[in-house]
Amino acid sequence: MMQNNGRLWAEPNELSRESPAEGVTLLHGFCREDAPQIYEAIRQVESISPFRQMVVPGGHTMSVAMTNCGELGWTTDRSGYRYTPEDPMTGAPWPAMPEILLSLARRAAAEGGSAEFRPNGCLINRYAVGARLSLHQDRNERDYSQPIVSVSLGLPATFLLGTLRRTDTPRRIRVEHGDVLVWGGPARLIFHGIAPIRAGHDPLTGNYRINLTFRHVASDD
Ligand code: SIN
Ligand code: FE2
Repeated sequence: MMQNNGRLWAEPNELSRESPAEGVTLLHGFCREDAPQIYEAIRQVESISPFRQMVVPGGHTMSVAMTNCGELGWTTDRSGYRYTPEDPMTGAPWPAMPEILLSLARRAAAEGGSAEFRPNGCLINRYAVGARLSLHQDRNERDYSQPIVSVSLGLPATFLLGTLRRTDTPRRIRVEHGDVLVWGGPARLIFHGIAPIRAGHDPLTGNYRINLTFRHVASDD
């Protein structure tokens, strides 16, 4: 392990972890080795349900392009945020969650202290240079007993790690290709966001950052 400005850096093949707040675990490089296969699975999903920029209820178009896989996918339009079993763009069910993604999410959740994670939805975010996500809570799931598992691929980003209060200034945490962030328990409803992505090039994803967030969404039945 090397020390660099107080931060621990993983040597190749060595996993380092941090807990930047209670209930939050950052697993550096957790899926770096599997990233090409993970990215291939995302390409398959995207070929069925393409990335698209959604509109929020206020009428603004999001800078992040999104798609989903799993039983329930998160969408927004002028009438509000919700989870749906069908992709509103295609009218067909969202693509099934590829096994490689499900197993990654479950292993990461276990590292973060949740051995029984059963994600039934995965929102896939694609950030071009300049794209950002403003501070928000993930609360459309209606079940907060399971964590959020967030996987970063491609261009690095600054994750804004807030608290349970919107007005607290968020901490800035760098997330890189292959990092996985897990938040749950007392941190499940933290405010979080992504600062504008800086220009760069990644050998796998080109000019994009890709993020996967796995969730357990309460179903109506
Ligand atoms: C999200 O909050 O849905 C995405 C967070 C991220 O892109 O890291
Ligand atoms: Fe979120």
